Parts: sequence; C-alpha cells; structure tokens
Amino acid sequence: MSFPFQTNHPTIKYFDTAATCQLPESVIAAQHAYWEHAHANAHRGSHQLASAATDVWEGCRQQVATHLQVEMENISLQTSSTQALNLLALGLEGTVSAGQNVVVSAAEHHANWLPWQRLCQRRGAEFRVIPVAADTGELRNPTAYIDSNTALVAVSAASNVSGVVFDLAPLLSRASAAGAVTIVDGAQLAAHLDNGIATENVDAWVFSGHKCYGPTGIAGLYLSARMQRRLVPVILGGGMVESVTTDSFQAVSDIRRFEAGTPNVVAAAGLTAALQWLAKQPKQQQRLHGFRQQLYDAINNIAGSHILAPTAQHTLPLLSATFAGVHPQELAWALDQQGFAVRAGSHCAQPLMQHWQLSGCIRIAPGLHNSADEVSALAAALSVVVDILRG
Ligand SMILES: Cc1ncc(COP(=O)(O)O)c(C=O)c1O
Repeated sequence: MSFPFQTNHPTIKYFDTAATCQLPESVIAAQHAYWEHAHANAHRGSHQLASAATDVWEGCRQQVATHLQVEMENISLQTSSTQALNLLALGLEGTVSAGQNVVVSAAEHHANWLPWQRLCQRRGAEFRVIPVAADTGELRNPTAYIDSNTALVAVSAASNVSGVVFDLAPLLSRASAAGAVTIVDGAQLAAHLDNGIATENVDAWVFSGHKCYGPTGIAGLYLSARMQRRLVPVILGGGMVESVTTDSFQAVSDIRRFEAGTPNVVAAAGLTAALQWLAKQPKQQQRLHGFRQQLYDAINNIAGSHILAPTAQHTLPLLSATFAGVHPQELAWALDQQGFAVRAGSHCAQPLMQHWQLSGCIRIAPGLHNSADEVSALAAALSVVVDILRG
C-alpha cells in the first residue's frame, strides 16, 4: 500500500480521512495516464482521443455502479456531494408545495441541510428535524416524523461527526409508503460499503469521490428510474440535449441529461482507480475499527473527556470528542505541532452542535494509510497535549 504523500511528508500523521482521503499511488498514476493518453472532451467528438475520454467517463460510471451494486443507467457523475444535493433540491423544488413537509435529521452536514431549508422557505413547506440521541447517536423515533404530507426525506447514512451509521430502513420504508421522495447522503458511508447500497425505498444516494480515496471534483449520484422522471435538470447546456430550436429544447432521454457541460474526466479516471483499489482492501476495515477502539480507550481514560455518542453501536472508524477546559482548535493546533493532522470545529454540522449544546469538538478519522505505530503515537500524545493545554 503506497501513499506518495507519506514519502513526501514523512512527519505528517494524517487523521482527517473523513474530510478527504489521501490518494493511493495508483489513483495519482491513473490521472497522469489520462492526461498523457486520453485527454479530450468526453461525449463531444468522434476522433480517437474524444472516444478515449468518453470511455474514461463511462468507465467511471460503470465502476461507481459496481461499487454501489446498482445498474449503470442509474448513475450520474457530479462534482461533489454538495453539488449533487443542491441539484436534487433545485430540481425537485416544483414538486413540493405549501402545507407539505420535508424531513431531515439533526445530524445532517450543512450540504444536506441548507438546500432543503431553502427549498422549504421558498415553497412555504415545513422543515422537520428528527432529533438525535446524545448517548447512542441514533435518530430518535424517526418514523414518527413522517405523515401523509411528507413530500421528501433527506437523511445521511452516517454522521460525519459521531460516525454513527444510522438504521434508515424503517424510516425510508415509512416515507416511501407515504409517497415521499427519499434521498440518502452517503458521503461518509461510501468508502465503507461491503455489499453496495440497499436501493429499496431509495430514490437518490449521493457520495463524493474524495472520501473514497479518489480525487476531488467528482461524485456519484444514484437516481432511481422514478427520480429520473421526476427530477428537472437545472443545469442546461452542452451534452444534455438531443435537439435545440429557437423555441425549445429536447433533453436526452438517459441520465446524461443531468450532466451538462464539459465533465471532469481526469477526476473520473482517478475515481475509477480509487474504487478498484478500495475493492482490494476488504480486510482493512477491521484494522480501522481496531484503530478507532484504541483511540476511544485512550480518550476515555483522559479525565474530563467526552466522546460524542459514547454508547454508539454501529459506527464508522472515526470519533469526535471534547476535553473540559481545552478549546478544540487549540488542541488541534497543538497536535499539528507534533505532526498529527486532526480536525476541529463544528464539522459543517452546526445544527448537531446546537442540538447537543456543544461549541465544537475534535474529530479523529484514521484512514487506510495509517500505521499502528501512528495510532499508538496519537493515543499517547493526546493525554500529554491535553495536560499541557490545561496548564
Ligand atoms: C455527511 C456529509 N455529507 C456531505 C458532505 C459534503 O461533501 P463534499 O464537500 O464532498 O461536497 C460531507 C463532507 O464532509 C459529509 O461528511
């Protein structure tokens, strides 16, 4: 397993994988190979290089479909989870009316909160928030928030703060039965899928390539056939039309009508390589969970520490914590001085911080590049640094 950033920066011990993964060598190589051998505009020309670029783009669509275990015709490639979620909110705006409600959870990342909040404000719909238990990190009685006026449910598959993986099946099933559209923000879960995604009762499932050991600028968006019919393309331009006249246009009938403009083909090359690489690391998830447990135990032993959702059952290999008397930003800064890259702040989840009455926390997210030695070093450094900061 080779990560070039480690060779170039041997003193950095990177624990911010939930924000962005470091890139394996094969992913960087795939992007170089694209630039050197296949760089052109996809879906725009019939010459050899244009065909090569188109193959790279469509190859990525296929690889994403394989990763999620869905059909390729249900996959659209976008630039980020944020962009995909906004595209969904704007494209569905006309389907939501006053008197209806849109349901999210208190654990949403801003990317899966703001687009729906704005939609509700514009349409006069109710913005409903499912509370999240502070001890287990689970959604509290989520099905109670669905009724016959629920137009849409948009929830994350796993929290980017607590790491809790939510049991969404009952909520999504109730929502579908009530006739609501269902959207899952899979940004944090996507790198940890064993057997693809469950598409039953799911209309859209979103993830970002850079959280799956791929590059930035590319994201996967699963759209059910029903959603493809319902969603209005909000970005118009080249590549998404069959015909254009002075009066009107006819969009292409397949999923490419949601992909107007020149696509980020080099990032597609990188994401394909990343998902292929990830598929070869099945046993590594266990190792990451071992790292999480080691860090959990170390933090738990520090007086005045508080791990978010401390009794969570099913989590991603990440955890967040606060330390009495220590500002999270100061802690992250002090750790950085020792070469440990961790994240501090509200993690683009201010509603969750308010819900749990926190001003911020540090998040530690190990990745497949980390060694056991790095984790042990961080576990040891935490108590030392916290003590120093407490004076
Ligand atoms: C749960 C969740 N949703 C959405 C996003 C937004 O992803 P991106 O910044 O790639 O658009 C993130 C990023 O941290 C996330 O953790």
